[in-house]
Amino acid sequence: MKIKPITYTLCCFLLMGFSCKNEMKVSSEPLIEQKIEALLKQMTLDEKIGQMSQIRHFEENADVHVSEKFIGSVIHTQGSTPGKSARDWQKRFVELQKKALSTRLGIPLLFGVDAVHGQNTFEGATIFPHNIGLGAANNEILVEEIAKITALESQATGFNWVFSPCVAIPYNEKWGRVYEAFSESTEITEKLTRASIKGYQGNLADATTVMATAKHFIGDGATDFGVEGGETSLSVSEIYQYLLPPYKVAVQENVGAVMASFNSINGISMHNHKALIIDTLKIGMKFNGIVVSDWKAYSRFNGIEVVNAGIDIIMAVDGDLEDFQEGLKKAVEEKKVSIGRIDDAVRRILRQKFKLGLFENPFPDATLVSKIGIKKHREIARQAVRESLVLLKNDNHVLPISKKTKKIVVVGEHANSAGFQSGGWTINWQGTSENYKGATTILEGIKKQSKGEVVYDKNATENHFDADLAIIVVGEIPYAEFFGDIGHESNQLQLTLTDEHQKYIKTYAEKGIKTVVVLISGRPLIVTEQINSSDAFVAAWLPGSEGDGIAEVLFGDYNFKGKLPHSWPKDMKDYEKNYGPNFWDKTIKPLFEFGFGLEY
Ligand code: BGC
Repeated sequence: MKIKPITYTLCCFLLMGFSCKNEMKVSSEPLIEQKIEALLKQMTLDEKIGQMSQIRHFEENADVHVSEKFIGSVIHTQGSTPGKSARDWQKRFVELQKKALSTRLGIPLLFGVDAVHGQNTFEGATIFPHNIGLGAANNEILVEEIAKITALESQATGFNWVFSPCVAIPYNEKWGRVYEAFSESTEITEKLTRASIKGYQGNLADATTVMATAKHFIGDGATDFGVEGGETSLSVSEIYQYLLPPYKVAVQENVGAVMASFNSINGISMHNHKALIIDTLKIGMKFNGIVVSDWKAYSRFNGIEVVNAGIDIIMAVDGDLEDFQEGLKKAVEEKKVSIGRIDDAVRRILRQKFKLGLFENPFPDATLVSKIGIKKHREIARQAVRESLVLLKNDNHVLPISKKTKKIVVVGEHANSAGFQSGGWTINWQGTSENYKGATTILEGIKKQSKGEVVYDKNATENHFDADLAIIVVGEIPYAEFFGDIGHESNQLQLTLTDEHQKYIKTYAEKGIKTVVVLISGRPLIVTEQINSSDAFVAAWLPGSEGDGIAEVLFGDYNFKGKLPHSWPKDMKDYEKNYGPNFWDKTIKPLFEFGFGLEY
């Protein structure tokens, strides 16, 4: 049923038991509120619009824009552009911060980064399993610790804001961002969202914590057929029941920011969805932080209407800045956007800057650099890898592997690639196929554990048929948003293994060699046949930099703990409808139920 905006809002309030008379909640710190008002009074319209603008740090004229266009925040999404070392990164951001502090009112910048599984844009940082693995581990103490470390390593590279956690609830495995979310379960997502925000934000004014972002509001993982930025046709009550609870938790935890989503809901783009952003999130749920747009929202989603819908910071990147600033100024002068709306946005931005203590301590702490990727952090990441592994099959107790096994053949390029095992949002936006600094591979871990001979057969062409055991590591190549959707024009991705990878398993299984398959993937895949033909089958998700954690479980130093955070599909037919098999749609029987997972 399609619902028009006004009815929609009313429904929302009725459902949540809120009254429209609810006042917007302000910060609990009265002093901060006084400071905000005092500063706001002095600001010109240009300065206010500047605060609402976000740019990239390496854009042409970035420095001039900070000085002359009063930019409020800077974004970093991938790669090593700020420089070679963490010191270079800090230096670049200190430079920009100084520019901001030299403007008339000296309002400090926010520096935001896509740190979604560790500070994954920096080579040498600790890179944790993607959220889907943390959903399998389902350990909130661990998630809080991971977020703390990510915050520290982000601060060490110059950032005070992360665009994380993704609190999506994916209903269709064809979506290329399934791995960024914890689970198809609302309950697990709520629990881990709370832990994650606690870990990131701690006491926000500390030098080792960062502002967090719950994203993408709302319906990102529930689009029909799993299309990134597509249409979500769930009813209002379904959205409230299944998708909104993690945001409620985030608001309770005082999350600093919420990012709007690319998708639309019942025909209305989320970036234009006043009913959900202003009426539900800001008024109804009393969210007093920042609503940040997604990439290039101004040119993508009806210009100034994004501001009227309640968005406070606009990612005005890749050529959008001037149009946004001029367009918004004109709209205010023509009364198409109220000054009240602009002031609301600026108050929210200033509130977080005061909470972060940026007016007193605007620069990153140089002493944190030595903490990037340290052993203590990597040990937590390895624990996360171990706890995220889900054992789907273990016939004849092939696992745990005896360390004395005479000869083991390790097969598949995924066994020997830190890039492949880490997925998208690793060093680069769409991930990397390279090994990167500080990481260990799965093969290295196996070699550390085994007391026998270990040979590596990258493409199953070397016929090591005298081996006692084959460990076959197969899976998906890295991808991120858009490019990871099954069926996207840019790729040939399938919801199953490639013929090549199927062959790796066959080659050894057909020779009667015991086979342990380790699947590296950002989502459950349809591998029914391969599960049948192997002796043991492990879903390892995207473990990140500590690939050696996998062998610690395969060889029995630790038992399996992970449980499926998604129902596991059996057949492509499971995807004929909007969603795959999940507990939301009970009409499709999965191969393995949500929550399944064996131990030795
Ligand atoms: C993604 C966000 C990300 C942002 C900034 C967008 O395209 O949807 O998740 O935080 O880019 O890189």
